[in-house]
Amino acid sequence: MNEKLQDLLLQSLIDQKEIFGDELFETKNLKRRTSVEFEPKIQQSEVVKSQKEIISEKILSSKNENLKEIPLIEEPKEKWQFSSNLDELNKLICECQKCPLGKTRNKFVFGTGNPNADVLVVGEGPGADEDAQGLPFVGRAGKLLTDILKAINFSREEVYIANIVKCRPPANRTPLPAEMESCLPYLNKQIELINPKVILCLGLTSALGLLKKRESLTNLRGKVFDFGKAKVMVTYHPAALLRNPNWKRGCWEDVQLFRKLYDEMAQLK
Ligand code: URA
Repeated sequence: MNEKLQDLLLQSLIDQKEIFGDELFETKNLKRRTSVEFEPKIQQSEVVKSQKEIISEKILSSKNENLKEIPLIEEPKEKWQFSSNLDELNKLICECQKCPLGKTRNKFVFGTGNPNADVLVVGEGPGADEDAQGLPFVGRAGKLLTDILKAINFSREEVYIANIVKCRPPANRTPLPAEMESCLPYLNKQIELINPKVILCLGLTSALGLLKKRESLTNLRGKVFDFGKAKVMVTYHPAALLRNPNWKRGCWEDVQLFRKLYDEMAQLK
């Protein structure tokens, strides 16, 4: 084995130990379940339909000829929807009061990282530390996330990190569907501006929010989904790994596959 390969192997083992402890996880038999084998039933393009598209479809499918005369109602656009960069978007939405979380938050947690990142990581919502600092994943789970990213050769600075909801749910409860729905357009706009190649959803709430799928985490892990131009994979939330260390092996396998997906996508350029 040449020296460079030895160094790489050694570094990978050090990283693995740092994050996942003494257990050694082998990765040689990992196989990603491709989107061909597991074609998502609903593609993103079908999920995020504008009011105009929905009305058009209803009109087209209607047998009532008169309905075709109904004029389409354009939803009025809000200023933030025209943002041309993340800073502008943040300024326009950071005082948001569209859902009740706006009243109880300390700080709005927009997201952080490389505005041109190829990799987007999506968590659930801010916790106490994030709410206090206005930054995502800065608490214990955040430290573990940094280590997980490092284990697959990504630094926090090169990726972008955001959440499904931008304000802390009281007592860290799971965000309610209505809260997620009102916040998701902001994340969609961030995705449009960042234009990542790959997205890693952390935990079921993140995956359900983004992919709109009613599936278990077990069913979602290991598969690749389409979200516009980006590919999406799902793994455990780092906070769940802190509570259940026996899930770390699965996470290790997921993120190895995610790295492979990224490498493949980066080659396509
Ligand atoms: N958990 C999340 O889902 N997001 C954060 O930003 C922090 C903890």
